[in-house]
Amino acid sequence: MCGIVGYVGPKQAYSYLIEGLFRLEYRGYDSAGIAIQDGEQIGIRKKTGRVTELAELCRQEPLKGSIGIGHTRWATHGAPSDTNSHPHVGGNGEVVLAHNGVIENYSILRDRLRELGYVFRTSTDTEVVAHLVAHQLDESIRLGASPTDAKTCVQAVESAIKQIKGTYGLAVLFRDVPDLLVATRLGSPLVVGIGKGEHYLASDASPLVGNTEEVVYLKDHETAVITADSFVLHHQDGSEPVVSIHALAQTSQDTDLGEYEHYMLKEIFEQPQTIENAMRGRLDEDEATAKFGGLNMDAQSLRRIDRIVLTACGTSWHAGLVGEYLIEEFARIPVEVEYASELRYRNPPMSDRTMIFAITQSGETADTLAALRECKRKGHETLAICNTVGSTIAREANGGIYLHAGPEIGVASTKAFTSQVTVLTLLALFLGRMRHLSYPAGQRIIGHLREMPDKIRQTLKCFDAVKEVARKYYTAENFLYLGRLYNFPVALEGALKLKEISYIHAEGYPAAEMKHGPIALVDEHTPSVFIAPRCQIYPKVMSNLEEVKARGGPVIAIACEGDDKIAELADDVIFVPDVDEYLQPLVASIPLQLLAYQIAILRGCNVDRPRNLAKSVTVE
Ligand code: AGP
Ligand code: GLU
Repeated sequence: MCGIVGYVGPKQAYSYLIEGLFRLEYRGYDSAGIAIQDGEQIGIRKKTGRVTELAELCRQEPLKGSIGIGHTRWATHGAPSDTNSHPHVGGNGEVVLAHNGVIENYSILRDRLRELGYVFRTSTDTEVVAHLVAHQLDESIRLGASPTDAKTCVQAVESAIKQIKGTYGLAVLFRDVPDLLVATRLGSPLVVGIGKGEHYLASDASPLVGNTEEVVYLKDHETAVITADSFVLHHQDGSEPVVSIHALAQTSQDTDLGEYEHYMLKEIFEQPQTIENAMRGRLDEDEATAKFGGLNMDAQSLRRIDRIVLTACGTSWHAGLVGEYLIEEFARIPVEVEYASELRYRNPPMSDRTMIFAITQSGETADTLAALRECKRKGHETLAICNTVGSTIAREANGGIYLHAGPEIGVASTKAFTSQVTVLTLLALFLGRMRHLSYPAGQRIIGHLREMPDKIRQTLKCFDAVKEVARKYYTAENFLYLGRLYNFPVALEGALKLKEISYIHAEGYPAAEMKHGPIALVDEHTPSVFIAPRCQIYPKVMSNLEEVKARGGPVIAIACEGDDKIAELADDVIFVPDVDEYLQPLVASIPLQLLAYQIAILRGCNVDRPRNLAKSVTVE
């Protein structure tokens, strides 16, 4: 979950490391640390809290040297504390490393290493790896290897990781080989930036922007042996894989805050553009369908599909639910939306006519990756709807569709959700046009989709109205979010946004389900947010709304412009433009994103870095 950075080259390592940690802070932010090799020894500074606090410590006690590593932590084992912060020291200081992931067999390894005399100073799982590498190194030295031999150090890492069960991205420095940086991964991302006479390391591309334009994505079981002017890959099976260099897709503009106070707000306001990007080049007016460059499936195989499984976590799972409704409606193909964390251990029957899509913003979510791999292992073709170019899921899927939404940095996903829904609408249109959907119907959908960026622009004008509503309700401790049909997943997503960033308890339900239990929660202190733009069952939604009012619950309605009736019934209304029912999730989710944002601000919460969360969940 955390961020890792590394540098080796002619410059002072500190500035890249600290700047990189600032850019990676969204991946984990309970503590941070840096280790820099000065040619004789490795200095370490680490601190609980934000990267600014680490920077302040380093200002008071600077570290010099041109090779180093850094880490922002999202604790899995051991509370966030200065001691538990990475980097960790192995043996008597001969090894220093930073780790992303979880060591599942740490307790057995720790007992074994303790018996061998290693002293544990932290309560993390990571420290066993540091001692294990040191132990392998010490063993080789005992058998006659030189402590200053880089090969011995690399072999020590390779022997250590063979004994580990779990996931890791590791960046390792050695006291006695002052120009060597070793990086290795299994299940946690690492990318190497190639410079001129220098190399950069990072757990995602954002720290590399502005430093290099060429990157190498490490694959599982690969170890990178890095010095200022050399870069070699080893595979665990003994081979030396060919290094394939990619162009870095991000620019610094993508990661700048610009005029906005928070990434979340910036990303909410980017949505007219990101929705446009998701559609660019994919609408085929002549054939009244959508087209995709990367599905890697021929028309015949696509035509054979008789079932679709969408798998994802969190917000991406909610987008999957909208996808289910869309695909079943337009293409008449049965769809199931599976939590990836369940699918990876379940064994649902799936034939060779089942199409499997992983939906993921980051492309690194551990559960989604594991579900994808499990399906691949069973021989299925797998596809991904993914935002992050070069991410593990994007690389491992047999084909897929990129969102092109640009980096999403706010921990609460916003623009990725609407881009996922847009891409799923295109997919439904595409599959529909291969089946029952007529040419005029396809044309109509394309026409509506083309209008969406403008509709989103209009929707964003609700900013001030949402602010007023937030002021009225921000002290509430419970919220209900209710919607039906396409707006049921929107209710789930609205509730998740509020929970994540304002720490208010919120539940999303199909509006009619409420009377089967949750209605017991309704009282004058529990606002219900009704997602109620006009739809085929609008009168039924109105009845559900009346049921809440009758029990004294305050009602906030998300309704179509000009809906005077709802304005009479609800306590507060936020109006959104009138769009066809199947496109309502795109507009209706926006006031809910803004509501969560405004409420979190009023409650003094850190919207971009909510407590306990991290942007990309690379542990199980
Ligand atoms: C959304 O706001 C979340 N922080 C989280 O639920 C997220 O959507 C989930 O972890 C899946 O991430 P992914 O799309 O990167 O796979
Ligand atoms: N499991 C390690 C720890 O708790 C690493 C966590 C992380 O990925 O940040 O320290």
